[in-house]
Amino acid sequence: LPLLALTAVAAYLLGAVPFGIVMARLFGLGDLRQIGSGNIGATNVLRTGNKLAAFLTLVLDAGKGGIAVLIARQFIGEDAAQIAGGAAFLGHCYPVYLGFRGGKGVATFLGTLLALSFPLGLIACATWLVTAAVTRISSLSALVAAVASPVAAVLIGRADAALLCALLALLILIRHKANISRILAGEEPKIGKKG
Ligand code: G3P
Repeated sequence: LPLLALTAVAAYLLGAVPFGIVMARLFGLGDLRQIGSGNIGATNVLRTGNKLAAFLTLVLDAGKGGIAVLIARQFIGEDAAQIAGGAAFLGHCYPVYLGFRGGKGVATFLGTLLALSFPLGLIACATWLVTAAVTRISSLSALVAAVASPVAAVLIGRADAALLCALLALLILIRHKANISRILAGEEPKIGKKG
């Protein structure tokens, strides 16, 4: 058990690294908190117009979830891998380095899923992409992909990952409260637009 607790803490601290803020600073894009939605994720970095910075944010925020899962699986096992993914996700949403005011967890969710079960991760990414292609709304695409993930886990025979998917989906819903209000009001900006 101490080992699992240690894994959770390490994964949390890794997940808490806000790559969006790091990239925005590195690329001289200013304070991400003052831009667009004020969120620290790739979607908001893209509102600066810098596609490379947005892409790197997406890859690094996804990567920290994926890496946490792969390392925990390698050294401990499958249960630890799920705990590490969940902890990295919590780190992104509630980072100690930012006074616990973090992001919405979408990239980290996708990276975690890809490492937990590559097919399941692909289904989530495809769901995001198809929804985004149709609606051009990042948050809505994330919500559809997240809510579909526990169902997809069961359908592809990875029921063992369904509980984690359901928990992450619930947190993604909670983190998108403002987005959901804007979607319902027809005011959510399209991808790449400032609003
Ligand atoms: O990845 C977060 C996305 O779903 C919404 O981001 O900046 O539009 O609130 P944002």
